Amino acid sequence: MNILLIGSGGREHTLAWKLKQSPLCQQLYVAPGNAGTAQLGTNVALAITDFIGLASFCISNKIDMMIVGPEEPLVKGIYDFFKNNPNTSNIHVIGPSKEASRLEGSKAYAKAFMKRHNIPTAAYREFDADNFEEGIGYIKTHALPVVLKADGLAAGKGVVICTNHIEALAEFELMIQQAKFGEAGKRVVIEEFLDGIELSMFVLTDGKNYVMLPDAKDYKRIGNGNTGPNTGGMGAVSPVPFVDDAFMQKVKEAIIEPTIAGLIAEELDYKGVVFIGLIKVNGEPFVIEYNCRFGDPETEVIIPRIENDLVEILLAASQQRLNEITIKTSPRTAVTVVAVSGGYPNDHETGKEIHGLNNTLPGDSIIFHSGTRQENNKILTNGGRVMAITSFGDNIEEAAERSNQLLDSLFFEGIYFRNDIGFEFR
Ligand code: AMP
Ligand code: GLY
Repeated sequence: MNILLIGSGGREHTLAWKLKQSPLCQQLYVAPGNAGTAQLGTNVALAITDFIGLASFCISNKIDMMIVGPEEPLVKGIYDFFKNNPNTSNIHVIGPSKEASRLEGSKAYAKAFMKRHNIPTAAYREFDADNFEEGIGYIKTHALPVVLKADGLAAGKGVVICTNHIEALAEFELMIQQAKFGEAGKRVVIEEFLDGIELSMFVLTDGKNYVMLPDAKDYKRIGNGNTGPNTGGMGAVSPVPFVDDAFMQKVKEAIIEPTIAGLIAEELDYKGVVFIGLIKVNGEPFVIEYNCRFGDPETEVIIPRIENDLVEILLAASQQRLNEITIKTSPRTAVTVVAVSGGYPNDHETGKEIHGLNNTLPGDSIIFHSGTRQENNKILTNGGRVMAITSFGDNIEEAAERSNQLLDSLFFEGIYFRNDIGFEFR
């Protein structure tokens, strides 16, 4: 099969690494890719939302499967664009339809879906300019902390947790009256704060059947001990130590099965990954959010633990044959540690040369590129998150230490990483 992978982060380098191991994978293209994906396949200089360009590339290069990494093209309808064009409708597109992608693209849509299907989530109400005054009253009497969520995609920034009413009212006004998070963010979900421990589950569905991929936990804060501002993700661990059979059973019964049944009942066309952000409160799982794609940096720990042929399972998802697939997962622990540019998640410089990439790699570690690009013979930083170093170990401590040690042998000006990923479990 000829495969086109859309995206340019650590997630995409990891997917490319795994796709390349499949005997079913012939040509591998990545649009636009990074310096890491360029070592595994051919990078294609097309933007992730250039649907016309991507479709004509697929036709010219006889692409059989297109895997969509990031949410933006999915929410903008890349699946439907390909399916509605007779020249691309035969391509296996991995990712949900535009309507189904609203599970990530609209917080209000996701909450209403959960309500319809009795899926446990924080209690909420939805407001916009039309019931703004009512929203003010609602916030004033809401228990604290109170969570405000801008409806549309906001690059991970649209959720604000307020510890007092004045701040919540100010944020609410900024979102609705000043469009702080854009037009789509002028609709706001206000919900109760859930106090617990978060984790992520990954479900691959063909719209009818589903298989569970490994679970993971990511670390979003910039600083050790989960301090400082939120980032795209500074590291991840898999498996999550507190996910035992009993908890998994609860998640399946209360969340995963009703979610898949809901997709079927509402005739949502979904052939891809449902990434469920969960929180465990007093032993019970609640949904924080749905995403319609793989996570980053969770992919960097879950994909290396999957022993199946990735092309085979994605093809089965596209052909509604996931009932034939059994996922085989390595019992080993994987930890990824992300190296970022100095200053990230705020202003940061790029274009710094990365040194040490040609050192011999210890057997238990893999270097995945995120924001990197090649210029002449040099590999340069090209974003906030630069590389994700994944290591295996018998436990989180061992795997994390292997990644930290490898990072000590890599260098670019301003390099920073958290050296405590998985700290609660060490
Ligand atoms: P989201 O974009 O929905 O994933 O929210 C971003 C982050 O905000 C989540 O990963 C949680 O840490 C936090 N969060 C969102 N909703 C809630 C909630 N109802 N209670 C507590 N924390 C939340
Ligand atoms: N790591 C969180 C995400 O991919 O959205």
